[in-house]
Amino acid sequence: MKCLKDIINFYKNTSTDDLAKTADNICTINYGKNIFIRGLLEFSNYCNMNCLYCGIRKDNKKVNRYRMSIEDIIKTVKKGYQSGIKTFVLQSGEDHYYTIEKLCLIIKKIKESTNFNAAVTLSCGIKTRKQYLELKKAGCDRYLLRFETSDEKLHKYLRNGVTLKKRINAIMDLKDLGFETGSGYMVGLPGENETTRINNALLCKKLELDMVGIGPFIPHNDTPLKESIQENIELVVRATSLVRLLLPYANIPATTASGTLDKIGREKMLKAGANVLMPNINDEKYKKNYLLYPGKICIEESGSQCLSCLNKRVSDISKNIVMDRGDSLSFLNKNKSLVKEKI
Ligand code: SAM
Ligand code: SF4
Ligand code: FES
Repeated sequence: MKCLKDIINFYKNTSTDDLAKTADNICTINYGKNIFIRGLLEFSNYCNMNCLYCGIRKDNKKVNRYRMSIEDIIKTVKKGYQSGIKTFVLQSGEDHYYTIEKLCLIIKKIKESTNFNAAVTLSCGIKTRKQYLELKKAGCDRYLLRFETSDEKLHKYLRNGVTLKKRINAIMDLKDLGFETGSGYMVGLPGENETTRINNALLCKKLELDMVGIGPFIPHNDTPLKESIQENIELVVRATSLVRLLLPYANIPATTASGTLDKIGREKMLKAGANVLMPNINDEKYKKNYLLYPGKICIEESGSQCLSCLNKRVSDISKNIVMDRGDSLSFLNKNKSLVKEKI
């Protein structure tokens, strides 16, 4: 199945189980049975934005807002590092309290406190190219910025006037500056259809992403989308497989939102082409206030409880957790060919 048309036809005409098996085989060829672990740390739930789907949008006055101090962030990272985690994902709303200088300081301190062994991923929204460059210079390895939906009109509506073009330009800047770049989308947004879902996956391919985050949209009661219908996990599983077929070397997380929608949603994704898990390592007092959607799992458990839970879940599906940095093969391959070009 070399050409895009063949992959899309295969996707359209294949049952979810067969699609998942094919995607899982491709994933196994490239990543073996290994599942990489990222320690997720949601350091601020303040946000200047008002995305219609998001539980921590600015206009949701019911949110108990918090900002973690730099000391608290480093303390949490150190604890995660001691438990073997070598990749940390720092996520927040678009919160300008954390200036680029502050973010750079956080990155440098994480690097120092982990003997420069850990990879740092940021996920704090759209910034200017110059700001991304500062983050890169400070040692930031990866950046996650989902495009959310490939439908331009829907994007502008859901993201309160922000254009898809602006989001894509930011993703292109990240790639250009040498970040291991992640993006992705929600599945089941109101107004999307099967064509949107195929275009979402094709956009991931066009962007040649190193990581692709896919999760179900889960309506939150305190947002304008509260009346939306909840789509089934099957759509997420199919999306995971399609993206794996299109991007055999990308890292694809089995997302917490999938585990929230379906008790074994993450396992379903891991059996359908996903190869990453992102346990939340934050203190329970913060976790319960970062509710993008209702019913979020793991908010009462500690990071180490989640790690042992995940160990069991992963071994139950005959895969193994690996505590490596887990760089994306697509990123490593690109860099190898760059080195070759330079030689
Ligand atoms: N503020 C940054 C941004 O928007 O890129 C990073 C944090 S944002 C909360 C992380 C992701 O949460 C978004 O990219 C979006 O896909 C997801 N998200 C937000 N609301 C959601 C919902 N109701 N259901 C599922 N996922 C949601
Ligand atoms: Fe803010 Fe991100 Fe939520 Fe949008 S999705 S409101 S930018 S936290
Ligand atoms: Fe958090 Fe199971 S992964 S409790």
